[in-house]
Amino acid sequence: MKSKASAPGKVILFGEHFVVYGVKAILCAINKRITVTAEKIEGKKISIKSNIGNLELETGKLISEINSPLKPFYYLADKMLKNENTGIEIIVESDIPLGVGLGSSSACCVAGAAAISRLFRKTSKEEILTLAIEAEKTIFKNTSGADCTVCTYGGIMNYDKENGFHKIESEPNFHLVIANSNIEHSTESIVEDVREFKENDEAGFSSLCKKESKLVEDVLELLKENDIKKLGTKIKENQEYLETIGISNEKLREMIQIGQTESFGAKITGAGGGGCIYALTDESNLKQTINQFKDKNYDCFSVKIDFKGLDTF
Ligand code: MEV
Repeated sequence: MKSKASAPGKVILFGEHFVVYGVKAILCAINKRITVTAEKIEGKKISIKSNIGNLELETGKLISEINSPLKPFYYLADKMLKNENTGIEIIVESDIPLGVGLGSSSACCVAGAAAISRLFRKTSKEEILTLAIEAEKTIFKNTSGADCTVCTYGGIMNYDKENGFHKIESEPNFHLVIANSNIEHSTESIVEDVREFKENDEAGFSSLCKKESKLVEDVLELLKENDIKKLGTKIKENQEYLETIGISNEKLREMIQIGQTESFGAKITGAGGGGCIYALTDESNLKQTINQFKDKNYDCFSVKIDFKGLDTF
Protein backbone atom coordinates (compact mmCIF):
# COMPACT_ATOMS: atom_id res chain seq x y z
CA MET A 1 0.00 0.00 0.00
CA LYS A 2 1.22 3.49 -0.91
CA SER A 3 0.47 6.62 1.07
CA LYS A 4 0.76 10.00 -0.61
CA ALA A 5 0.54 13.57 0.71
CA SER A 6 1.35 17.03 -0.53
CA ALA A 7 1.90 20.34 1.24
CA PRO A 8 2.31 23.89 -0.04
CA GLY A 9 5.26 26.22 0.34
CA LYS A 10 4.85 29.53 2.09
CA VAL A 11 5.69 33.22 2.09
CA ILE A 12 6.20 35.12 5.32
CA LEU A 13 4.50 38.43 4.62
CA PHE A 14 5.50 40.14 7.87
CA GLY A 15 7.38 39.24 11.06
CA GLU A 16 10.10 36.74 10.15
CA HIS A 17 12.86 36.47 12.77
CA PHE A 18 10.87 38.53 15.29
CA VAL A 19 8.44 35.56 15.44
CA VAL A 20 11.26 33.47 16.95
CA TYR A 21 11.11 35.88 19.94
CA GLY A 22 7.34 35.72 20.40
CA VAL A 23 6.17 38.49 18.02
CA LYS A 24 3.18 37.75 15.78
CA ALA A 25 3.99 37.01 12.12
CA ILE A 26 1.67 37.01 9.09
CA LEU A 27 2.16 34.21 6.59
CA CYS A 28 0.42 32.65 3.64
CA ALA A 29 0.68 29.31 1.88
CA ILE A 30 1.47 29.48 -1.85
CA ASN A 31 0.40 27.45 -4.85
CA LYS A 32 3.67 25.53 -5.18
CA ARG A 33 3.86 22.09 -3.56
CA ILE A 34 5.95 19.19 -2.38
CA THR A 35 4.52 15.70 -2.81
CA VAL A 36 5.74 12.75 -0.76
CA THR A 37 4.92 9.11 -1.50
CA ALA A 38 5.70 6.49 1.16
CA GLU A 39 5.53 2.72 0.87
CA LYS A 40 6.48 -0.15 3.18
CA ILE A 41 9.31 -2.26 1.78
CA GLU A 42 11.07 -5.45 2.86
CA GLY A 43 14.13 -5.18 5.11
CA LYS A 44 14.87 -2.87 8.00
CA LYS A 45 15.94 0.07 5.89
CA ILE A 46 14.79 3.57 4.98
CA SER A 47 15.30 4.67 1.40
CA ILE A 48 14.65 8.28 0.33
CA LYS A 49 14.73 9.46 -3.28
CA SER A 50 14.50 13.14 -4.20
CA ASN A 51 15.69 15.64 -6.77
CA ILE A 52 18.37 16.83 -4.33
CA GLY A 53 19.80 13.35 -3.91
CA ASN A 54 19.10 10.01 -2.29
CA LEU A 55 19.65 8.54 1.16
CA GLU A 56 19.49 4.87 2.12
CA LEU A 57 20.22 3.72 5.67
CA GLU A 58 19.33 0.91 8.04
CA THR A 59 16.73 1.75 10.65
CA GLY A 60 17.77 2.67 14.20
CA LYS A 61 20.58 5.15 13.40
CA LEU A 62 21.27 8.11 15.65
CA ILE A 63 19.86 11.27 14.04
CA SER A 64 22.91 13.25 15.16
CA GLU A 65 25.09 10.97 13.01
CA ILE A 66 23.18 11.67 9.80
CA ASN A 67 24.50 14.53 7.73
CA SER A 68 21.90 15.04 5.02
CA PRO A 69 19.14 17.55 4.27
CA LEU A 70 16.89 14.48 3.95
CA LYS A 71 17.34 13.75 7.67
CA PRO A 72 13.77 14.83 8.65
CA PHE A 73 12.33 12.04 6.46
CA TYR A 74 14.63 9.50 8.11
CA TYR A 75 13.58 10.77 11.55
CA LEU A 76 9.88 10.40 10.71
CA ALA A 77 10.21 6.97 9.11
CA ASP A 78 12.43 5.59 11.90
CA LYS A 79 10.02 6.87 14.54
CA MET A 80 7.08 5.11 12.86
CA LEU A 81 9.04 1.89 12.33
CA LYS A 82 9.77 1.28 16.03
CA ASN A 83 8.80 -2.36 16.75
CA GLU A 84 8.04 -3.00 13.05
CA ASN A 85 9.81 -5.55 10.91
CA THR A 86 9.76 -3.64 7.64
CA GLY A 87 11.37 -0.65 6.00
CA ILE A 88 10.00 2.38 4.15
CA GLU A 89 10.69 3.85 0.74
CA ILE A 90 10.00 7.58 0.37
CA ILE A 91 9.84 9.52 -2.90
CA VAL A 92 9.90 13.33 -2.79
CA GLU A 93 8.80 15.51 -5.71
CA SER A 94 8.94 19.29 -5.49
CA ASP A 95 7.86 22.30 -7.46
CA ILE A 96 9.05 24.66 -4.71
CA PRO A 97 12.53 26.09 -5.31
CA LEU A 98 14.66 24.57 -2.55
CA GLY A 99 16.44 26.40 0.28
CA VAL A 100 15.40 29.93 -0.71
CA GLY A 101 12.87 30.86 1.98
CA LEU A 102 9.71 29.52 0.33
CA GLY A 103 9.06 26.79 2.88
CA SER A 104 10.50 23.82 0.99
CA SER A 105 11.81 22.16 4.15
CA SER A 106 8.61 22.78 6.11
CA ALA A 107 6.49 21.46 3.24
CA CYS A 108 8.76 18.36 3.17
CA CYS A 109 8.26 17.85 6.91
CA VAL A 110 4.48 18.28 6.71
CA ALA A 111 3.93 16.13 3.59
CA GLY A 112 6.49 13.61 4.94
CA ALA A 113 4.82 13.39 8.35
CA ALA A 114 1.43 12.81 6.69
CA ALA A 115 2.53 10.27 4.08
CA ILE A 116 4.71 8.25 6.48
CA SER A 117 2.41 8.24 9.53
CA ARG A 118 -0.61 7.31 7.43
CA LEU A 119 1.11 4.08 6.39
CA PHE A 120 0.43 2.96 9.98
CA ARG A 121 -2.75 4.76 11.10
CA LYS A 122 -5.06 7.66 10.35
CA THR A 123 -3.51 10.83 11.74
CA SER A 124 -5.16 14.21 12.33
CA LYS A 125 -3.75 17.50 11.01
CA GLU A 126 -2.83 18.47 14.60
CA GLU A 127 -0.81 15.27 15.06
CA ILE A 128 0.83 15.69 11.66
CA LEU A 129 1.84 19.27 12.54
CA THR A 130 3.40 18.10 15.83
CA LEU A 131 5.37 15.39 13.98
CA ALA A 132 6.40 17.86 11.26
CA ILE A 133 7.77 20.38 13.77
CA GLU A 134 9.69 17.59 15.55
CA ALA A 135 11.16 16.56 12.19
CA GLU A 136 12.03 20.16 11.27
CA LYS A 137 13.90 20.47 14.57
CA THR A 138 16.38 17.82 13.35
CA ILE A 139 17.71 20.42 10.91
CA PHE A 140 16.72 23.65 12.65
CA LYS A 141 16.49 23.38 16.42
CA ASN A 142 15.04 26.82 17.18
CA THR A 143 12.23 26.90 14.64
CA SER A 144 9.27 29.06 15.67
CA GLY A 145 6.93 26.48 14.12
CA ALA A 146 5.34 29.17 11.94
CA ASP A 147 6.33 27.66 8.59
CA CYS A 148 5.09 24.11 9.31
CA THR A 149 1.83 25.56 10.65
CA VAL A 150 0.96 27.48 7.49
CA CYS A 151 2.08 24.57 5.28
CA THR A 152 -0.34 22.31 7.20
CA TYR A 153 -3.43 24.53 7.31
CA GLY A 154 -2.93 26.70 4.19
CA GLY A 155 -4.50 30.13 3.64
CA ILE A 156 -3.33 33.34 5.24
CA MET A 157 -2.84 33.49 9.00
CA ASN A 158 -1.19 35.22 11.87
CA TYR A 159 0.96 33.08 14.12
CA ASP A 160 2.80 33.46 17.36
CA LYS A 161 4.65 30.91 19.44
CA GLU A 162 2.42 31.21 22.49
CA ASN A 163 -1.02 31.25 20.87
CA GLY A 164 -0.37 29.32 17.65
CA PHE A 165 -2.22 30.33 14.52
CA HIS A 166 -5.31 32.31 13.72
CA LYS A 167 -6.68 32.19 10.16
CA ILE A 168 -7.35 35.53 8.52
CA GLU A 169 -10.81 35.16 7.04
CA SER A 170 -10.73 37.91 4.38
CA GLU A 171 -9.39 36.77 1.02
CA PRO A 172 -6.97 39.57 0.13
CA ASN A 173 -7.10 40.80 -3.41
CA PHE A 174 -3.38 40.85 -4.23
CA HIS A 175 -0.72 39.04 -6.22
CA LEU A 176 2.75 38.32 -4.93
CA VAL A 177 5.69 38.48 -7.29
CA ILE A 178 8.59 36.40 -6.00
CA ALA A 179 12.13 37.07 -7.16
CA ASN A 180 14.85 34.57 -6.32
CA SER A 181 18.42 35.71 -5.60
CA ASN A 182 19.46 32.09 -6.17
CA ILE A 183 21.71 32.46 -3.12
CA GLU A 184 20.98 29.43 -0.95
CA HIS A 185 20.89 30.13 2.75
CA SER A 186 20.86 28.20 5.98
CA THR A 187 17.90 29.38 8.05
CA GLU A 188 19.55 27.97 11.15
CA SER A 189 22.75 30.00 10.79
CA ILE A 190 20.91 33.25 9.95
CA VAL A 191 18.63 32.78 12.98
CA GLU A 192 21.83 32.29 14.99
CA ASP A 193 23.28 35.58 13.58
CA VAL A 194 20.11 37.38 14.68
CA ARG A 195 20.45 35.86 18.14
CA GLU A 196 23.98 37.34 18.33
CA PHE A 197 22.64 40.72 17.18
CA LYS A 198 20.06 40.52 19.99
CA GLU A 199 22.64 39.54 22.60
CA ASN A 200 24.84 42.49 21.62
CA ASP A 201 21.98 44.98 21.83
CA GLU A 202 19.11 43.68 23.99
CA ALA A 203 17.48 47.12 24.32
CA GLY A 204 17.67 47.87 20.59
CA PHE A 205 16.26 44.44 19.72
CA SER A 206 13.45 44.73 22.21
CA SER A 207 12.48 48.12 20.77
CA LEU A 208 12.44 46.58 17.26
CA CYS A 209 10.20 43.75 18.52
CA LYS A 210 7.75 46.34 19.87
CA LYS A 211 7.75 48.22 16.55
CA GLU A 212 7.24 44.98 14.63
CA SER A 213 4.33 43.97 16.92
CA LYS A 214 2.63 47.32 16.30
CA LEU A 215 3.26 47.01 12.56
CA VAL A 216 1.68 43.53 12.46
CA GLU A 217 -1.44 44.78 14.33
CA ASP A 218 -1.73 47.65 11.79
CA VAL A 219 -1.36 45.18 8.92
CA LEU A 220 -4.15 42.98 10.31
CA GLU A 221 -6.48 46.00 10.15
CA LEU A 222 -5.31 46.93 6.63
CA LEU A 223 -5.95 43.37 5.47
CA LYS A 224 -9.55 43.66 6.66
CA GLU A 225 -9.91 46.88 4.69
CA ASN A 226 -8.02 45.44 1.70
CA ASP A 227 -5.95 48.64 1.60
CA ILE A 228 -3.17 47.47 -0.66
CA LYS A 229 -1.37 50.82 -0.96
CA LYS A 230 -1.00 51.20 2.80
CA LEU A 231 0.07 47.55 3.03
CA GLY A 232 2.90 48.52 0.66
CA THR A 233 4.14 51.19 3.09
CA LYS A 234 4.12 48.60 5.90
CA ILE A 235 6.18 46.26 3.72
CA LYS A 236 8.82 48.97 3.30
CA GLU A 237 8.81 49.65 7.05
CA ASN A 238 9.23 45.95 7.84
CA GLN A 239 12.13 45.76 5.39
CA GLU A 240 13.89 48.56 7.32
CA TYR A 241 13.70 46.47 10.50
CA LEU A 242 15.12 43.47 8.64
CA GLU A 243 17.98 45.67 7.35
CA THR A 244 18.66 46.76 10.95
CA ILE A 245 19.01 43.18 12.22
CA GLY A 246 21.50 42.47 9.45
CA ILE A 247 19.82 39.81 7.32
CA SER A 248 19.95 41.77 4.05
CA ASN A 249 22.76 42.24 1.55
CA GLU A 250 23.64 44.18 -1.64
CA LYS A 251 21.91 41.78 -4.01
CA LEU A 252 18.69 41.67 -1.98
CA ARG A 253 18.66 45.48 -1.72
CA GLU A 254 19.05 45.74 -5.48
CA MET A 255 16.17 43.29 -5.99
CA ILE A 256 13.96 45.21 -3.55
CA GLN A 257 14.74 48.41 -5.44
CA ILE A 258 13.69 46.76 -8.72
CA GLY A 259 10.58 45.27 -7.09
CA GLN A 260 9.51 48.62 -5.72
CA THR A 261 9.66 50.44 -9.07
CA GLU A 262 6.21 49.24 -10.09
CA SER A 263 4.75 47.37 -7.09
CA PHE A 264 3.27 48.71 -3.83
CA GLY A 265 6.24 47.49 -1.78
CA ALA A 266 8.89 44.78 -1.65
CA LYS A 267 10.75 42.99 1.11
CA ILE A 268 12.74 39.90 2.00
CA THR A 269 10.64 36.87 2.85
CA GLY A 270 11.92 34.19 5.23
CA ALA A 271 15.37 34.01 6.75
CA GLY A 272 17.16 36.38 4.35
CA GLY A 273 20.91 36.36 3.69
CA GLY A 274 19.89 35.16 0.21
CA GLY A 275 16.69 33.44 -0.80
CA CYS A 276 13.75 35.40 -2.09
CA ILE A 277 12.04 38.76 -1.90
CA TYR A 278 8.39 39.40 -2.65
CA ALA A 279 6.70 42.41 -4.24
CA LEU A 280 3.05 43.20 -3.55
CA THR A 281 0.95 43.92 -6.64
CA ASP A 282 -2.59 43.82 -7.96
CA GLU A 283 -3.87 43.45 -11.54
CA SER A 284 -2.76 47.04 -12.29
CA ASN A 285 0.98 46.44 -11.80
CA LEU A 286 1.50 42.66 -11.81
CA LYS A 287 2.87 42.36 -15.37
CA GLN A 288 5.01 45.49 -15.09
CA THR A 289 6.60 44.19 -11.87
CA ILE A 290 7.41 40.82 -13.44
CA ASN A 291 8.88 42.58 -16.48
CA GLN A 292 11.10 44.77 -14.30
CA PHE A 293 12.73 41.61 -12.91
CA LYS A 294 12.84 39.77 -16.23
CA ASP A 295 14.53 42.78 -17.93
CA LYS A 296 17.35 42.42 -15.42
CA ASN A 297 17.48 38.64 -15.82
CA TYR A 298 16.14 37.79 -12.39
CA ASP A 299 14.44 34.48 -11.79
CA CYS A 300 10.90 35.55 -10.94
CA PHE A 301 7.32 34.25 -10.86
CA SER A 302 3.97 35.18 -9.36
CA VAL A 303 2.15 33.08 -6.78
CA LYS A 304 -1.37 32.87 -5.41
CA ILE A 305 -2.47 31.99 -1.91
CA ASP A 306 -3.10 28.25 -1.46
CA PHE A 307 -6.19 27.73 0.69
CA LYS A 308 -5.99 23.93 0.86
CA GLY A 309 -2.85 23.29 2.92
CA LEU A 310 -1.97 19.64 3.52
CA ASP A 311 -3.63 17.22 1.13
CA THR A 312 -3.62 13.42 1.51
CA PHE A 313 -4.41 10.83 -1.16
C1 MEV B 1 12.11 31.18 8.30
O1 MEV B 1 11.26 30.91 7.19
C2 MEV B 1 11.41 32.08 9.27
C3 MEV B 1 12.23 32.52 10.49
O2 MEV B 1 11.40 33.45 11.17
C4 MEV B 1 12.55 31.36 11.39
C5 MEV B 1 11.33 30.75 12.09
O3 MEV B 1 10.28 31.36 12.17
O4 MEV B 1 11.48 29.62 12.60
C6 MEV B 1 13.51 33.22 10.09
